[in-house]
Amino acid sequence: MTDTRPPGQAAPTATQRPDGSGCLRVLQVSAEIFPLLKTGGLADIAGALPAALSTAACDVRVLLPGFPAIVAGLQDATAIGQFSLPWGESVRVLSGALPAVQGAEGAAVRAYVLEAPGLYDRPGNPYEDAQRRPYADNHRRFAALAWGAARLARDLDPDWAPQVVHGHDWHAGLVPACLKLTAGKQVPCVFTVHNLAYQGIFSADVFGDLGLPPSAFQVDGLEFHGQISFMKAGLFYADKITTVSPTYAREVQTAEQGFGLDGLLRTRRSDLTGILNAVDTQVWNPATDIHIPHHYAADHLAGKAKCKAALQDEAELEVTKDAPLFTVVSRLTEQKGLNLVLAGIETIVQGGGQLLVLGSGDHELENAFRHAAQSHKGHVALRVGYDEPFAHRIFAGSDITLVPSRFEPCGLTQMYGLLYGSLPLVRAVGGLADTVIDADLATLDDATATGIVFANFSEADYRHAVRRALALYRQPRAWARVRQTGMHQNFSWTQAAQHYRAVYIAALPDLSRAST
Ligand code: ADP
Ligand code: GLC
Repeated sequence: MTDTRPPGQAAPTATQRPDGSGCLRVLQVSAEIFPLLKTGGLADIAGALPAALSTAACDVRVLLPGFPAIVAGLQDATAIGQFSLPWGESVRVLSGALPAVQGAEGAAVRAYVLEAPGLYDRPGNPYEDAQRRPYADNHRRFAALAWGAARLARDLDPDWAPQVVHGHDWHAGLVPACLKLTAGKQVPCVFTVHNLAYQGIFSADVFGDLGLPPSAFQVDGLEFHGQISFMKAGLFYADKITTVSPTYAREVQTAEQGFGLDGLLRTRRSDLTGILNAVDTQVWNPATDIHIPHHYAADHLAGKAKCKAALQDEAELEVTKDAPLFTVVSRLTEQKGLNLVLAGIETIVQGGGQLLVLGSGDHELENAFRHAAQSHKGHVALRVGYDEPFAHRIFAGSDITLVPSRFEPCGLTQMYGLLYGSLPLVRAVGGLADTVIDADLATLDDATATGIVFANFSEADYRHAVRRALALYRQPRAWARVRQTGMHQNFSWTQAAQHYRAVYIAALPDLSRAST
């Protein structure tokens, strides 16, 4: 890395801060953030990480695109500057505070938001138009995020500049490229892969818009089979790479799960770490959850039975405690293994169980579940859409959380299921393999079992797993024991935040690292 500081100027250290405290200044860059804008787990993580890192001696600010929900939710916003994008468009940078999550303690998280209505002020989904086609100018919309990060890392805010920039997923993939390949102060960059399936691929024709030197468009750069890959840019130029579970960190290095980037990831394996996502227990805790009708805890489960009855009633399922209630809260996509769930409906219903699905996405999947709900009234129900409070009520009322994914970088719903006393039924892949312990004779005996895990992505294996869940439900004492173990799992952010801090420190140039 080139040091562009004027001669004689000391390297910035992790302990140098205008107010003199010893925090490491980190700028997080992500496209979504809970509670302002969420389409999936990325938002949950981006929302929880700043507060978690603040307990690990980090001073974290976030940079976000100015989607309408984000601009509307930013508190005490003031414009702190503006800059021009490579194609001439001007962007104002707002600085403000993120709203606190209800019940959360600690100072509000500071955020920078790119105010560029021409790029971001569109209704609906942040990435796609009403026909579910990616916006044609997505390369500009997310290149702007990278340029914003580079400017903030260098000179945009006279009162604060990060020592490390941390970008999330392909939307922030150009951040390390901008920082590495353009003139100005060099700030180390960490890049986190949340899902390698979404890469931000664009035609080579738009390369000129990105404002990067022509040398970037090569195989040792962001070129990917003749196109531009924002994900590859992140993986290639970042100083350190993380992904969201240890198992996924291994899986992405294989041809099967590498989406064409496994070779690069193998090359970079000494810079790659898997850090398991955690759960924000200010938001996800059945003892305090603001969205559920009755509170409960592992040693006080009466509220859970009431939540189940209320959920069955709300979903127009037969209200009976005897039927094990299987639930899905998910984006309806290929990734999530929902064709297995469809193939297993008869097994659930014939076994005396019920199924409730909350999701939106693929219309064919929506229709297939709609059809199943019509054929099994009172036993199968579907709610199409995105509904955060309903998702909470589902985990609270559910007995089994289904996550039979084809691949799963981490997965959060199985962890929410565990903490809410809904046993996860998962495939042994990615973060699912890292978070659920299969109930077999040995793990039932030593009380380490937390759910049902199956290995192969096949209808037969999935159905067998469903039958095992049904059988376990018919053994109330064993069931209760597994549920207790699950509810006592510790998914707190403390450990993950320490891991991220260690990765940030490792990304710092030697001189600054020495002083942390
Ligand atoms: P992914 O990010 O791949 O979608 P995760 O399990 O990491 O999967 O995170 C999904 C997040 O989105 C969870 O917080 C889950 O509760 C939420 N979620 C998914 N679908 C819906 C929906 N239809 N309504 C409400 N919340 C949803
Ligand atoms: C991605 C992954 C999911 C992960 C989430 C948060 O959307 O699909 O497995 O939990 O990011 O890291």
